[in-house]
Amino acid sequence: MIDYPEFASMVQSKLPDEGIISCTSPSNIALVKYWGKRPVQLPENASVSFTLDQCKTETSISYKKRDTVGEDFDFELFFEGKSKPDFKPKIQIFFQRVEKYLPFLKHYRFVIKTSNTFPHSSGIASSASGMSALAYCLMQLERKIHSEITDSELLQKTSFLARLGSGSACRSIEGPVTVWGAHADINGSSDAYAIPFPFEIHQNFKNYQDTILLIDKGEKQVSSTVGHDLMHGHPFAKERFEQASKHISKLKEILISGDMDAFIQIVESEALTLHAMMMTSLPYFILMKPNTLSAIHKIWKYRGTAGSKICFTLDAGANVHVLYPESEKKQVLEFITNELVVYCQNGQYICDKIGLGAKIV
Ligand code: PMV
Repeated sequence: MIDYPEFASMVQSKLPDEGIISCTSPSNIALVKYWGKRPVQLPENASVSFTLDQCKTETSISYKKRDTVGEDFDFELFFEGKSKPDFKPKIQIFFQRVEKYLPFLKHYRFVIKTSNTFPHSSGIASSASGMSALAYCLMQLERKIHSEITDSELLQKTSFLARLGSGSACRSIEGPVTVWGAHADINGSSDAYAIPFPFEIHQNFKNYQDTILLIDKGEKQVSSTVGHDLMHGHPFAKERFEQASKHISKLKEILISGDMDAFIQIVESEALTLHAMMMTSLPYFILMKPNTLSAIHKIWKYRGTAGSKICFTLDAGANVHVLYPESEKKQVLEFITNELVVYCQNGQYICDKIGLGAKIV
């Protein structure tokens, strides 16, 4: 693992004995997608996302100092009130990766309680909100130990740690738009952590809406880890990473200028390219369902006839994120209930919008 000495930490002789820390952290939806990584959790291209507001994980961590520093981490995990031993290996790996940046971990016994505001197995990835919430809670404890840490240092290190849990999680700490991955046109951008988009965003994008159509709530066919791996040796990998980089440059100008048509073109192209990469890897796979395509065609038709600035994006799954300006909220929600809900499993969809990131509760 590359060392990041700026995030290293020391255990102080006086550690707090016990306490509890609670926070929430949202999911995020990428506009320019991250697909392909190098060890450990470093992106092959920069990505840009909207931080969400309503789809979030609530996590509380109780910590109690152990009598002697353990050989191993000591934690218990509850998900939606139930003990979840099958989630433990992921947290164990996360703790191993971040230990040198949070050396107090083996000094404590932790009870981690976590739950999501969005329905379980809704096809909405909970790793971004879950890992960012965990990193955020742990950094609040780090701050109790190192009170000199500034707000901006805290946010940067939280994003850095969240990335080691799940790449895209690093983009959930702040909002409303974040950038992860070093890019020449984005000052201060880094592969190691996400930063807030460092320019004023045009009024057109303020309170941008994201209604998530839950098309298929089944288990994902392919984990994102396997998907990222398939970009190694992918026949179009090099071109894809170059395209993403060009899209970042264009999207930067679009977010500043408020050019909605250009926004639609980049965002939809990115969604389809992500899925095209999956369809052209070996093994190949299709994560869209027939209803995903039906919804996309309806969105295109509505945009053509209603003169709307609605567009869609996709995650690594069948669900459709319907993006639109706040000024169109009433009409688009009507369109969704009249014409898109039929494509949702059990008629379910989630109304969300862009938000500001992790918070203490
Ligand atoms: O953070 P991961 O490893 O789950 O990867 C997420 C990848 C996508 O959601 C498909 C795209 C992105 O940039 O969020």
